[in-house]
Amino acid sequence: MRTVRIPLGERSYDILIGFDCLGDLGAAMRERGVARDNVALITSPRIGGLYYEAAAAGLRAAGFGHVDRWDLPDGEENKNLENFARAVRWLARFAPDPSIRPVVVALGGGVVGDLGGFAAACFRRGVPYVQAPTTLLAAVDSSVGGKTAVNLPEGKNLVGAFYQPGLVYMDLATLATLDPRQVRSGTAEVIKYGAVDVDLFEFLEANVEALVALDREALMRVVPTCVELKADVVRRDERDEAHVRVCLNFGHTLGHAMEKAAAGRLTHGEAVAVGMVAAADISVRCGLCDAEVTRRLRAVLQSAGLPVRVEGLELEQVLRLMQHDKKFVTGKNRFVLLEGIGRWTEREGVPEDIIRDAALAVLD
Ligand SMILES: NC(=O)c1ccc[n+]([C@@H]2O[C@H](COP(=O)([O-])OP(=O)(O)OC[C@H]3O[C@@H](n4cnc5c(N)ncnc54)[C@H](O)[C@@H]3O)[C@@H](O)[C@H]2O)c1
Ligand SMILES: [Zn+2]
Repeated sequence: MRTVRIPLGERSYDILIGFDCLGDLGAAMRERGVARDNVALITSPRIGGLYYEAAAAGLRAAGFGHVDRWDLPDGEENKNLENFARAVRWLARFAPDPSIRPVVVALGGGVVGDLGGFAAACFRRGVPYVQAPTTLLAAVDSSVGGKTAVNLPEGKNLVGAFYQPGLVYMDLATLATLDPRQVRSGTAEVIKYGAVDVDLFEFLEANVEALVALDREALMRVVPTCVELKADVVRRDERDEAHVRVCLNFGHTLGHAMEKAAAGRLTHGEAVAVGMVAAADISVRCGLCDAEVTRRLRAVLQSAGLPVRVEGLELEQVLRLMQHDKKFVTGKNRFVLLEGIGRWTEREGVPEDIIRDAALAVLD
C-alpha cells in the first residue's frame, strides 16, 4: 500500500492507497489509533450491498465489538439536512452510552463522504471518522481535505464544517463496480490535476485509456499523485482562506454553470471537462499561452471519453449562472487560467467578449 501523509499538526493523518485491502481496514484503524469500541459505518444501499460485509468482517476481526451500518439513499439530492438528521439520530441510537465514543466510517462516494463526515463532525461535537472512498472522484478529491457538507434547497454544500478524518483508506479494487460514466467523470478531475502538473499530464497523454479501464498500474501512478497535489494545497490552505486551493477550480467556473444549465444531463466531471476546454481557450485568447495547450487538453479529454463541447445549452443562461458562482467576486470575474500545461495563474476581470467567445465555442 502507498501512504500519503497530510501534515496538519495534531490533525495530521495518513491516506492509505491499495487494492483488495478492504478487509484490512480495521487493522489499519487500530494501528493508527483511530479506534474506539464501536464502528458506525455510513454507506449507501448499493455500496453497502457490495462492500459492507468485507469491511465489517475485517473490523470485527480487528476487535471492534459493535459494528453496524446506516444507509444514505443514493443520489446527490439525498445529501440534505433531512438525511443528516436521520444519520445523527441513528448515531445517537447506535451509541447511547456517552462514555463510549464511536468511530464513524464513511464508505462510499463523495455524497456518502460529505454527509458522513459532517455527521461525524457534529455528533457529540465531533467523533473520529474515516473516509473510505469508493469512487474515483472521492479518491482523488472529496475524501481528502476535510471539507464536509450537505446541500440546502438554496444551494449546494451550504451547511458543513472543516473536519479532518483520522484516516483515509482507499481500496481501489472497489472502483471495478462503478458505472463507467462515473469513472470517466472522476477522470476529468484527474485531468484537472494534470493541467497544474506537467508530469501527470504527460503520463495521461500516454495512458489515460488505461486509467479509464482501471488498469492497476495506471491507478497507482495517478491516484497517489492527485492525493499529494491536493494534500499540498490543503496543507497550505486548510480552510480555503489563503487563496491557494483556487488552482483546484480550473475548469470549474464555466463548468459549474454548464452543469447547472444542463440540469442533470451532464455529470459534474463532464461539465468540468467542457469547462476546462473553455478555460484553456480563454487563456489563449488572453495571450497567456498558445493554442497547442487547448489542443493537448482536448485530446486527453477525448481519449478519456469525455465531452469537449456540449449541445443544447443557451449561452445567455450559462453566462448568467456563471455570474452567480461563488468564484465570482462582485463585478469582477475571476478565472484560473493556464500559462502552459502545469502552469496556472489566476486572472480577474477577463474581458466579457473573451468569455463569451470561449463559451460559445464549446456550446453548439
Ligand atoms: N468534500 C469535498 O472536498 C468535495 C470535493 C468534490 C466533490 N464533493 C462532493 O462529492 C459528491 C460527488 O461524489 P461522487 O462523484 O463520488 O458521487 P456519488 O457519491 O453520488 O457516487 C456516484 C454513484 O456511484 C455509486 N457508487 C459509488 N461507489 C461505487 C462502487 N464502488 N461501485 C458501484 N457503485 C458505486 C453511488 O451509489 C452513486 O450512485 C458531490 O456531492 C460533491 O459536492 C466534495
Ligand atoms: Zn470538481
